[in-house]
Amino acid sequence: MYPLIRNRRLRHTKAIRNLVRETVITPNDFLVPLFVVEGKGVKEEIASMPNYYRLSLDHLEKEVKELWNMGLCAVLLFVKVPDKLKDNKGTEALNPNGLMQLAIKTVKNACPDMLVMTDVALDPYSSYGHDGIVADGEILNDETADVLAEMSISHARAGADFVAPSDMMDGRILTIREALEDEGFSHTGIMSYSAKYASAFYGPFRDALDSAPVAIKNVPKDKKTYQMDFTNRFEAIRETQMDIDEGADIVMIKPGLCYLDIVREIRNEVDVPVAVYQVSGEYAMVKAAAEKGWLDHDAVMMEQLIAIKRAGANIIASYFAKDAVKLI
Ligand code: PBG
Repeated sequence: MYPLIRNRRLRHTKAIRNLVRETVITPNDFLVPLFVVEGKGVKEEIASMPNYYRLSLDHLEKEVKELWNMGLCAVLLFVKVPDKLKDNKGTEALNPNGLMQLAIKTVKNACPDMLVMTDVALDPYSSYGHDGIVADGEILNDETADVLAEMSISHARAGADFVAPSDMMDGRILTIREALEDEGFSHTGIMSYSAKYASAFYGPFRDALDSAPVAIKNVPKDKKTYQMDFTNRFEAIRETQMDIDEGADIVMIKPGLCYLDIVREIRNEVDVPVAVYQVSGEYAMVKAAAEKGWLDHDAVMMEQLIAIKRAGANIIASYFAKDAVKLI
């Protein structure tokens, strides 16, 4: 009771604040998303993601070496697929010499110990920008899960350490886990986007990969029949619990900042590592406000990353990984 207790004693100097600090960020916390494109010598800035780039394989190699030297040891790969290779079934996703498969090999050649995770979903390969096969006004569930399982095997064969299904089809974790086991990839892990909300914060990412969903017959121009309704909380726990039962090694909540209540709740509920994806729209907002001089970029970035970790994230997928590591 005051004055015996004065909370400000523990804030009085920098040294005491450092000593009692509860949450710290280290390079080991980060998963770095990388966007890969076809071609050579390509390093294109993404318009809605300042200072973030689409990289051809030669630049990818340079980038991962730089990340490794900064202590960033895990990447999450995405590919931008040319329109001519897109179809409704994601056929190109299974090409053993496809861009993703080559990207995995490029990273592993450049940095053999770098942890490579790959995005598993049809949207970058889909002519409709949807995460599943479209038929009869629907996104087909089980047929899509089968393709995702083949895609996962293809990534594992190319050398991926973890596959990260980001599609939200029901039962896909079990389908993928069983397929990996059958093919002898028992060490290949699964990081499931288990509580992924249908969010407007993915806009810049869809620009980056040219993967925005389109309306087709009775299928709307959004992902609300598979990604979660952002008004829901219990559903996130159920989705996550089911993915763990189906064999997910790591679970993920996405987006980050608006969903920290869900992060804390899931962290309290489950006993596997919990990842949070601070998504493209979250990155874009900070960059835009900082460009206008309205916010202190570095301070806001660190505050947001710490908030994500404090909420319970064990792993943070973030476009700020490099910026943050330079400050710590
Ligand atoms: C693809 C995928 C998306 C993101 C990650 N994987 C987009 C989407 O679901 O439409 C979003 C990432 C971001 O916004 O940074 N399934």
